[in-house]
Amino acid sequence: MGAIRGHTVELRPVEESDAPFIHRWMNQPEIWRYMDYERQYSLADVLEDIEAARGSGQPLTILVDGRPIGRVGLNQFRDRDRICSLYLYIGEPECWGRGYARDAVMTLLAFAFDRWDLHQVELWTLSDNDRAIPMYRRCGFVEEATLRDRSFKEGRWVGHTVMSVNRDEFATARATWDADAPGIVTQDSQAT
Ligand SMILES: CC(C)(COP(=O)(O)OP(=O)(O)OC[C@H]1O[C@@H](n2cnc3c(N)ncnc32)[C@H](O)[C@@H]1OP(=O)(O)O)[C@@H](O)C(=O)NCCC(=O)NCCS
Repeated sequence: MGAIRGHTVELRPVEESDAPFIHRWMNQPEIWRYMDYERQYSLADVLEDIEAARGSGQPLTILVDGRPIGRVGLNQFRDRDRICSLYLYIGEPECWGRGYARDAVMTLLAFAFDRWDLHQVELWTLSDNDRAIPMYRRCGFVEEATLRDRSFKEGRWVGHTVMSVNRDEFATARATWDADAPGIVTQDSQAT
């Protein structure tokens, strides 16, 4: 899998040179709170995580004008059921609210639905993630279930929300996304 160009972001396979960025991102309170990480990570942990992520899916770095700003990826591929899971964060909080997350998710979903015979992509998010959930809805994801009291965060229980998007729902969201940036064709710049 090569780099994939979206409307505003580019996604490329994660590299070891991303480790110092990832290390800083993963340990930021704003990130690890909502990624539901349970502890702080060392640089060695990050390098191990990159290796593990490669073994279990498609880990990608999100770039804007060549600058790494976050991560997105797919894992937990289940071939029989044609489903996989998506994860995401924008590690630079000053980049929030500019549409980069939506563009990263839409770019990756377009790539995945176009090239693989997927039926559905799912994700889990903390139920109090008011920034992520509306963005995922705009990408076509539907809330399926809330699991009560699944994480104990900052002295209180927080639920988890399961969301998923199927091929048709994605096609509808994609039409809106394409209309938001007419003339830009999403493409895999090094199709494999
Ligand atoms: C949640 C998270 C990924 C959102 O990233 P983001 O880049 O701010 O998301 P977006 O900008 O695409 O969308 C969020 C809001 O920004 C605004 N926005 C979207 N496009 C915009 C644009 N082009 N210009 C200005 N603002 C825009 C919108 O208000 C949008 O909210 P809406 O969908 O309700 O309209 C990011 O805050 C993050 O990484 N948080 C910490 C980790 C995390 O929560 N990860 C997800 C775990 S499931």
